[in-house]
Amino acid sequence: MVIKDYYSLSEAAEILGKSKETLRRWDKDGKLPAVREPMSDYRIYKKEDINNLIKPLFDNIEDDIDNSEKPLKEYKVLELFAGAGGLAIGLEKAGIKCAALNEIDKWACQTLRENRPNWNVLEGDIKTFNFEKYNGEVDIVTGGFPCQAFSYAGKRLGLEDARGTLFYEFARTVKEVNPPICIGENVKGLRSHEKGETLKGMLSILDEIGYNVVPVQVLKAINYKVPQKRERIILVGIRKDIDIKYEYPKPYQTIYNLSDALKKGKLYDSNVPKSEGAKYPQHKKEVLDLVPPKGYWRDLPLDLQKEYMGKSFYLGGGKTGMARRIGWDEPSLTLTCSPAQKQTERCHPDETRPFTVREYARIQTFPDEWKFMGSVSQQYKQIGNAVPCNLGKEIGYSIVKFLNDYYSSLSKPK
Ligand SMILES: C[S@@+](CC[C@H](N)C(=O)[O-])C[C@H]1O[C@@H](n2cnc3c(N)ncnc32)[C@H](O)[C@@H]1O
Repeated sequence: MVIKDYYSLSEAAEILGKSKETLRRWDKDGKLPAVREPMSDYRIYKKEDINNLIKPLFDNIEDDIDNSEKPLKEYKVLELFAGAGGLAIGLEKAGIKCAALNEIDKWACQTLRENRPNWNVLEGDIKTFNFEKYNGEVDIVTGGFPCQAFSYAGKRLGLEDARGTLFYEFARTVKEVNPPICIGENVKGLRSHEKGETLKGMLSILDEIGYNVVPVQVLKAINYKVPQKRERIILVGIRKDIDIKYEYPKPYQTIYNLSDALKKGKLYDSNVPKSEGAKYPQHKKEVLDLVPPKGYWRDLPLDLQKEYMGKSFYLGGGKTGMARRIGWDEPSLTLTCSPAQKQTERCHPDETRPFTVREYARIQTFPDEWKFMGSVSQQYKQIGNAVPCNLGKEIGYSIVKFLNDYYSSLSKPK
């Protein structure tokens, strides 16, 4: 048995985006039979079987889902930690007006101003701003606050206990503005950060400042017309005087892949424009030259695997993101802030190089017209940090639906 031709259970689970439990069940049901590694008796999977399954799993299925919703009146958002505007573009596409955006990074602010000269970009550290003047002026406060731990003593955590963190600034702003709905966005890892205590602390702070938090969900970007396996946690706070149900956007069946991102097709009506991009250092290029599309470090000769992976070679887990070349017929793995960084290589399918700036932007579903300011590495950072625009749009529709229901309920006689 040539082990190179097989995936372990955890690798197969990572590649298919399913849990190990699901794969064990599929093995029992015969949907995806595993074979047993002769020495350990562990389940392993023929690469061919996995690759054959990717296509039907990700192939386009007719969708009857439509989350779109027209605003009944003009809704306004105050967008915090706005970056290069991924979420803001999405909300705009859903018909929500940006009343103001706060961002500390000067290049990201230049990007916002360059593309939307009319947007009110508040440049600077959020700590230095008071947002009380937006009270009664905006319907939504959003923010992808960078996550920092705060100590949670197992008691109810108060707002003041979080002082010094950016979540504190998010919550303080929500308190000052007091909108009907607020949305916090973060990496999926927030759920398990400090064994879930950080998230628990955040929920109790939102409760203290007068917001009920809808059961927290992780949204998978691939379910929202984004050709990338990015996952984001969403915290939706509803002001306590409001008794209207918020519903998360429904996931679409259709899954888009790299070809949809970079070539003319269902997502874009032209091929990706040419642009600047990073290069791999010579050694990395030589290594990645040996990896086929959809392959990763395990496709290298054993001695090179050991050399390239270093200590990681001996640690468990699939690490299918290392020395990875993306295939045309699969969604990209999550893009990071720097495309040539070790352990998260996402190589172009045909050429041994990272994705260019405009390819990056497409995988995050930015419009081709959206310009990024600053050096190439600043541009990658802004794009890698963003909420994919199409995911932002679907979140936007869910907010519009909620606000439509809320404002209609106010005008109904009791
Ligand atoms: C994850 S990114 C947000 C991405 C954005 N929501 C989007 O969709 O493009 C977080 C942003 O917070 C900004 N940031 C970090 N510290 C800040 C601070 N103290 N005040 C304002 N912005 C800050 C960073 O510069 C970064 O652009």
